[in-house]
Amino acid sequence: MTSRAAQYARYGGPEVLEIVEREDPQPGPGQVRLAVRAAGVNPADWKLRTGAFNPGDDAPERPVVPGFDVAGTVEALGEGVTTLAEGDEVLGGTRGGAQAERALADADALVAKPAALSWEVAGSLATVVSTAYRVLERLGVSPGQVLLVHGASGGVGIVATQVALARGITVIGSAGERHQDDVRALGATPVVHGDGLVDGVRAVTDRVDAVFDAAGRGSLADLVALAGGPDRVVTIAHPDAAEHGVEFSSGGGVDGALAEFVGQLAAGTFRAPEVVVYPLEEVGKAQEDNRTGAVSGKLVVIP
Ligand SMILES: NC(=O)c1ccc[n+]([C@@H]2O[C@H](COP(=O)([O-])OP(=O)(O)OC[C@H]3O[C@@H](n4cnc5c(N)ncnc54)[C@H](OP(=O)(O)O)[C@@H]3O)[C@@H](O)[C@H]2O)c1
Repeated sequence: MTSRAAQYARYGGPEVLEIVEREDPQPGPGQVRLAVRAAGVNPADWKLRTGAFNPGDDAPERPVVPGFDVAGTVEALGEGVTTLAEGDEVLGGTRGGAQAERALADADALVAKPAALSWEVAGSLATVVSTAYRVLERLGVSPGQVLLVHGASGGVGIVATQVALARGITVIGSAGERHQDDVRALGATPVVHGDGLVDGVRAVTDRVDAVFDAAGRGSLADLVALAGGPDRVVTIAHPDAAEHGVEFSSGGGVDGALAEFVGQLAAGTFRAPEVVVYPLEEVGKAQEDNRTGAVSGKLVVIP
């Protein structure tokens, strides 16, 4: 059987993406094949596609199907998979290749999709949830302490803000002017990012115990100053991390995080990020809108 997938064979702008008809991928041991219902778009998709992680190379070793986050129906089981069955509705992370009609995922990276959750929201969650929980664990913030989430209006920031608040942590959330009300609606105190960040934060609190840099932009020196030292700051994207002695966190999740967050969403305790849907044919536009920030919310591709 064949099915459609987004694919690029050389690094570059959105124009290198094409929709191809290819043989369905076959699940290896521990994997399942999903009929994809929705695949999230993350900055990692276009950072990889532009070759930013492979300086000096013009092309990947073999064509790449982008996309890490997925929601779909289990269609085929690889050897040794006992926790899932054909027809199960699931969401979670892939090792890449989600922006397609069919994709492979490790069975243990998937959780059941509650009926209350739309496919679009389900497909948008894996990366932001695993990242948010991982960094909160690294920071080790306690109930009653004050956390600055820099980029509280972004995909990772929205998750981190809500999880921290639910743990009894006070959250100051930085965002652009247009997202101040969104951050307030999550239950955090909003401040505007940019040149006035330090004064803005100090106007609302005289204490910041830790900083989660979920934006990776703006002045890292400002974040270090607000936290009172680099050891209380963790970034997921700032290029100046090493220069400032700040921990850069990448990869890996926290056991149970996705199931917990999904459970809270289904119960109505947490809010999902807003999703904006693109057909698979517009995957290049979706990645580009994510790169430029032209469209707010979590962008999702539907095959
Ligand atoms: N290391 C990892 O494991 C990992 C995992 C996931 C993501 N990331 C990286 O983390 C970053 C955020 O990911 P995301 O999916 O949450 O992205 P996103 O949804 O696009 O959110 C970006 C956030 O950055 C804020 N922002 C934009 N311009 C800014 C500026 N000049 N100064 C300060 N803040 C600014 C945005 O605020 P407004 O829109 O309100 O202006 C928004 O809150 C990306 O660079 C991504 O590649 C890393």
